[in-house]
Amino acid sequence: MTYTLRHQTLRPHQSLASCTYPLDEETSSYHVGAFLQQDLIGVGSLFREAQDGSTNSTSWRIRGMAVLDSAQGQGVGGHILQTLINYASKQELPCAIWCNGRSTAQGFYTRFGFTQHGPIFDLPPIGPHVLLVKTITSKII
Ligand SMILES: CC(C)(COP(=O)(O)OP(=O)(O)OC[C@H]1O[C@@H](n2cnc3c(N)ncnc32)[C@H](O)[C@@H]1OP(=O)(O)O)[C@@H](O)C(=O)NCCC(=O)NCCS
Repeated sequence: MTYTLRHQTLRPHQSLASCTYPLDEETSSYHVGAFLQQDLIGVGSLFREAQDGSTNSTSWRIRGMAVLDSAQGQGVGGHILQTLINYASKQELPCAIWCNGRSTAQGFYTRFGFTQHGPIFDLPPIGPHVLLVKTITSKII
């Protein structure tokens, strides 16, 4: 279900296989799903990954933030993102959460305290992205 939602929302013109991420199955990875009745309508994942691709206990990478088209703009994505942030805040601190966010979604991340680092860059075939980072120094209850 997660892969299908990622595919529909994030990579409809790519293969379903492109919607699996290398750290999906790692025990340190944390996945959040939002359901309406029995239906999965939103997902987001947190991976222990530094910006250079190495695993790192104080760096978390957000990937696969996706809310079904029909459920967007109603707080679902924000709730998922806040849940990921809260989880990271309960692990080793201080920590940094980062993502290569789509330029079109930058405002979503800045709404939750992420800031842009560096210039906009292209990630074919999707398009312009930006590195967004949030540092957490204390536990969020
Ligand atoms: C980006 C996405 C995950 C946001 O989820 P959502 O459920 O639509 O967002 P919410 O309704 O929870 O919005 C939370 C806040 O972020 C803001 N926001 C949401 N999407 C935004 C966007 N694209 N640009 C700017 N602000 C945005 C909302 O206005 C809201 O702010 P408010 O609380 O001040 O009103 C969702 O729209 C989505 O899946 N989009 C398509 C895929 C995508 O781009 N994913 C991100 C990949 S990096």
